[in-house]
Amino acid sequence: MRTHRVAVLPGDGTGPEVVSIAVRVLEAVQEKLGTYKLDLVSGEAGFNAIAKYGTNVPPQTIDMLKTTVACLKGPMTTPEEPGAPPSAALAIRKFFNLYANVRPCSSLPNVPSLKPNIDLTIVRENTEGMYSNIEFDVSEGVAVAMRVISQKASERVARFAFKLADRRRKHLAYVHKANILRRTDGVFNQAILDVSKDFPSVVIEGLHIDNMALQLIKRPETFDVIVTTNLFGDILSDEAAQLVGGLGIASGANMGDNYAMFEPVHGSAPKYAGQDKVNPIATILAGKMLLEYLGERDSARELERAVRLVLEEGKALTYDLGGKARSSEMCQAILDKIRRP
Ligand code: IPM
Ligand code: MN
Repeated sequence: MRTHRVAVLPGDGTGPEVVSIAVRVLEAVQEKLGTYKLDLVSGEAGFNAIAKYGTNVPPQTIDMLKTTVACLKGPMTTPEEPGAPPSAALAIRKFFNLYANVRPCSSLPNVPSLKPNIDLTIVRENTEGMYSNIEFDVSEGVAVAMRVISQKASERVARFAFKLADRRRKHLAYVHKANILRRTDGVFNQAILDVSKDFPSVVIEGLHIDNMALQLIKRPETFDVIVTTNLFGDILSDEAAQLVGGLGIASGANMGDNYAMFEPVHGSAPKYAGQDKVNPIATILAGKMLLEYLGERDSARELERAVRLVLEEGKALTYDLGGKARSSEMCQAILDKIRRP
């Protein structure tokens, strides 16, 4: 039987709760399909690792990740004070060169959506831009951050987004602020135009980031794939998540050429830790993206079917979806749908 060795990083705050639920769901679909095996290996990373190892992602975790084909990562708290270790998500994205951050946002049954029929995917450049980690004090009260935009990274993420749009509804919106950031977004936009020559059937539409923030509210159903630089993509993906029901259901994939990491878009919500309260669907759907990446499409479909059925029934909804169910009750409802003969 084919085996996929996959790392699991539970994270901190509510991370361990939602990740253990996602793992139970992954194990249930694996059992149901019976055609492959997930070899899951757990590792330490995130806020709790800092006190113990002085860093967010200790070297032994990196070594463990290297023995796997992909990773399911829970939310992790990122400390904000200067000098604190960089975010664990960023460290892993950087280490494995996971250059495309893919965040689908689709209307789900029984989940409040700004408009019906929203089905868009944000592809966010994941290695540079405002996340280049070049930030310093210049003089008292003045600090500078550098926004690095390279042709190479822009073309790489552009190609990824074009390929995706080509398999979907063949529309690609590219988002920038080239009226102000003339050089950096000049490089980004040129990369889009260059790569577009290889995808003549994909229609492109360029939008300024401020206008995009508006159009996403005004006509979200017209967007298919949206590609943009790192920080714009970070902001737009939270906005887009809210269009279709909020961060409780938003999942994302960080894709490289040789590795991929899957995670909920939401943070660690430490104030809810241990309360069995938060919506586990974002992490479960990250698990669905993981199954697709592993080529286990039937399993991915089965997982999504179970989630949709539970949402449609509307009996086991967490507080963010207007229900009263605990995370564990929603989990059980999803498991029941999978195990039903
Ligand atoms: C996200 C998060 C991260 C980011 C943080 C936790 C570093 O907001 O994945 O969107 O900014 O990329
Ligand atoms: Mn974010």
